Amino acid sequence: MGNCCRSRCKIDGTLKPQPCSDVIEVPSGSTHLLVHSNPNGYGYSDEGKPEILPTPRSEWDILSSPHLKPFTLHDLKKATRNFQPHNLIGEGGFGYVYKGVINDSKSFGDTIAGSRTDVAVKKLKPEGFQGHKEWLSEVNYLGQLHHPNLVKLIGYCLEGDNRLLVYEYMPNGCLEDHIFRKSAQTLPWATRIKIATGAARGLSFLHDSKQQIIYRDFKASNILLDSEFNAKLSDFGLAKAGPTGDHSHVSTQVLGTRGYAAPEYIATGRLTSRCDVYSFGVMLLELLSGRHAIDNTKSGVEHNLVEWARPYLGDRRKLFRIMDTKLEGQYPQRAAYTVAIIALQCISEAKSRPQMSEVLAALEHLPAIRHSSSPSREDKPKQNPKREVLSPAANFPLRHNHAQQKPEL
Ligand SMILES: Nc1ncnc2c1ncn2[C@@H]1O[C@H](COP(=O)(O)OP(=O)(O)OP(=O)(O)O)[C@@H](O)[C@H]1O
Ligand SMILES: [Mg+2]
Repeated sequence: MGNCCRSRCKIDGTLKPQPCSDVIEVPSGSTHLLVHSNPNGYGYSDEGKPEILPTPRSEWDILSSPHLKPFTLHDLKKATRNFQPHNLIGEGGFGYVYKGVINDSKSFGDTIAGSRTDVAVKKLKPEGFQGHKEWLSEVNYLGQLHHPNLVKLIGYCLEGDNRLLVYEYMPNGCLEDHIFRKSAQTLPWATRIKIATGAARGLSFLHDSKQQIIYRDFKASNILLDSEFNAKLSDFGLAKAGPTGDHSHVSTQVLGTRGYAAPEYIATGRLTSRCDVYSFGVMLLELLSGRHAIDNTKSGVEHNLVEWARPYLGDRRKLFRIMDTKLEGQYPQRAAYTVAIIALQCISEAKSRPQMSEVLAALEHLPAIRHSSSPSREDKPKQNPKREVLSPAANFPLRHNHAQQKPEL
């Protein structure tokens, strides 16, 4: 278990939510969240993009998803050996996460009768900050959305006050553990890029759906890793439907994680997909530098990763100063510089940020990356003296500025 003592905390904005037709406030005391008064379901169009289902979804509709298995508490006690501390693999704001094994007596979804499936069981803390609405939001989104870069929700349990979620088990845990845990093996450069690319693919999928979905809680601990270090986004408790019609943003209470939330969202409560792009930029900085978004052990400018790293990102000669020393120089300088420029664009002011599809394309076209989990020859710095000094403008991976195409925040 590696997440109990992290130096991060959830933002619970004190801003009053501005009037918005698609949100209602949850009664005080139950949760700090706002939820959709009309939680949309997502089906699939022919192109494989999620689309809004025609009818509003009640709690009953959400829980009746044909993709999800309802478990009893008894099933999950059996799966986790009565939530034995030995099976504890993590802890977050929602509650504790246990490893378990489900013995399927009959086939369900991808599982075959008689098979054993490794699962991660998340158990809501009764006193937790996050509550039923967030639990339901997770079931709603993950019961409808399926993509290789989103974690698979297998089922849930709702029994009395008990609320649990059953996910596919991700053997490599979350990205946060790999970048920051001292005992963890250093993530090689190629693996870092593989993870960033997978996470960008998951986020692009959400943003480009017919009814856009804003993830709102993008961070290293919500990026789970399978046995081959494929990245999958988890935790859709804060996800929200993006603006529709002529609206440029969704007005909402500020929720998210300090250090990752976009400054304009914190200041105004106006949420757009560009807020996710900002958070993605922060995660890229963590991958480059091996430092936390917020480091409570440091003071001054080093406390905040964005503030500390920003001056070095656009200067190829200075970039090495912020690179993760655990990489011991084993990364291609040109690719690192390109990633730094992408990160710089992601954390720039909202109207100048790229879209996730552009970030994804730029990551997919990084110079000479072989996606393996060990440093490859392609990872070694390339000798190309002519390219040694590149201005950000000369090597800008994402050329489009959508300020003119989309309304400002
Ligand atoms: N499906 C899974 N497979 C394996 N490990 C998991 C899985 N889901 C969660 N974990 C582990 O449990 C930890 C806690 O997850 P959880 O989502 O509850 O909290 P968090 O993301 O760390 O914090 P927050 O509540 O702020 O989102 C994760 O960091 C990860 O290490
Ligand atoms: Mg999480």
